[in-house]
Amino acid sequence: MKVLVLGGTGTVGSQVVRELVARKAEVNVLSRNPDKASGLPSGVRGVRGDLLEPATVRAVFREMDGVFLLNPVSPTESHEGLMAVNGARLAGVKRLVYLSVQDADVAVHLPHFGSKFAVEAAVKASRFEWTILRPNNFYQNDVFFKDALLQYGVYPQPMGDVGLSRVDVRDIAEAAAIALTTGAHAGKTYNLVGPEPVTGKSTAETWSRVLGRPIAYAGDDLDAWEKQSLQYMPASLVFDFRLMYQFFQEKGLLAGPADVERQTRLLGHPPRRFEDYAREMAATWKASS
Ligand SMILES: NC(=O)c1ccc[n+]([C@@H]2O[C@H](COP(=O)([O-])OP(=O)(O)OC[C@H]3O[C@@H](n4cnc5c(N)ncnc54)[C@H](OP(=O)(O)O)[C@@H]3O)[C@@H](O)[C@H]2O)c1
Repeated sequence: MKVLVLGGTGTVGSQVVRELVARKAEVNVLSRNPDKASGLPSGVRGVRGDLLEPATVRAVFREMDGVFLLNPVSPTESHEGLMAVNGARLAGVKRLVYLSVQDADVAVHLPHFGSKFAVEAAVKASRFEWTILRPNNFYQNDVFFKDALLQYGVYPQPMGDVGLSRVDVRDIAEAAAIALTTGAHAGKTYNLVGPEPVTGKSTAETWSRVLGRPIAYAGDDLDAWEKQSLQYMPASLVFDFRLMYQFFQEKGLLAGPADVERQTRLLGHPPRRFEDYAREMAATWKASS
C-alpha cells in the first residue's frame, strides 16, 4: 500500500517510516526541506511541500492509500491539520491515522491540546477509515535534557508529583503502522501510554540509577522553568507548555489498566518501560562520550 507520512523527518514520524518499511508499505515522506530527503531510509521517497501551501495539499495526497498525520506544536497547528484532512479528503484517501494527545478532550483549553481536538473532530467527520492515537508524554523528550543530566546533574521537566503515564515513541510508531497497514482499528481512539506512572522525582531517581550518579529533580517552580525556557524556545511555545505543566502538576496525565490492556492487544506486547529506555540512552551517551 502507498502511504504518505506527514512529519516523517521528525521524532515520531521517522519511527513510523521504519515500521511501515518493515511492513512492506510503499512510503512517501513530506518535508519542507529537500535536503532532508537524503537522510530517509533507502526506498522511501521524499516529497517537498508545506501543509500551509494549498498547492502542496492539492498534490501530495493523490494516489495515496493511507496517511499518517502529525502536526508539530505551533500557532498554526490546527490549520495545518485541517489542510491535511482536506487534502486527504479531496484525494479520496482510504485510511488515515492521526497523532493527537492524551486528554485532548479534557484539557481543551491548552492551545496544542485544543488544536488537536479540532483536527480529531474533522478526521471523525470524514469518510476515512480513521484511527486516532493519543499518546502521553514521550520518553524520548529526555534526549533534550542530556546536558542538564550529564553536566548539571538535574532533571528539568516540571512534571509534578501526581504522575504521568509516559510512553516510548517506538510503541506509538508500531501502533500507527499496524493501524495503517491492517485497517483493523478503524473508528477507534487509543491512549498510548507506559506501563506505570512516573513523577518528576521518580524520573530523576531512574536517571540516577542508570547513570550511576545523583540526579536531582529541578522542582515544580514554573516561573523558574519559564525564565530558563525563554532562552531557547519561542514565547508562544513557552506559554503553551507552561499551561500544560500546570495541568500536569494539578491533574497528572494518568492511564488506567484498561488503557494498558488495549494497547498491549494492539501491539501484541506490553508497553516499553521507562527504565529500559533510560538505560539504553545512558549506554548510548556513554559510548559516544
Ligand atoms: N513530546 C511529547 O511528549 C508529545 C506527547 C504527545 C503528543 N505530542 C505531539 O507530537 C507532535 C510532535 O511530534 P514530533 O516530536 O515527532 O515532531 P518533530 O520531531 O518536531 O517533527 C515535526 C515534523 O513536522 C514536519 N512539519 C513541520 N511543519 C510542517 C509543515 N508546515 N508542512 C509539512 N510538514 C511540516 C517536519 O518536517 P520538515 O521539518 O522536514 O519540513 C517534521 O517532520 C506534536 O503534535 C505534539 O503535540 C508530543
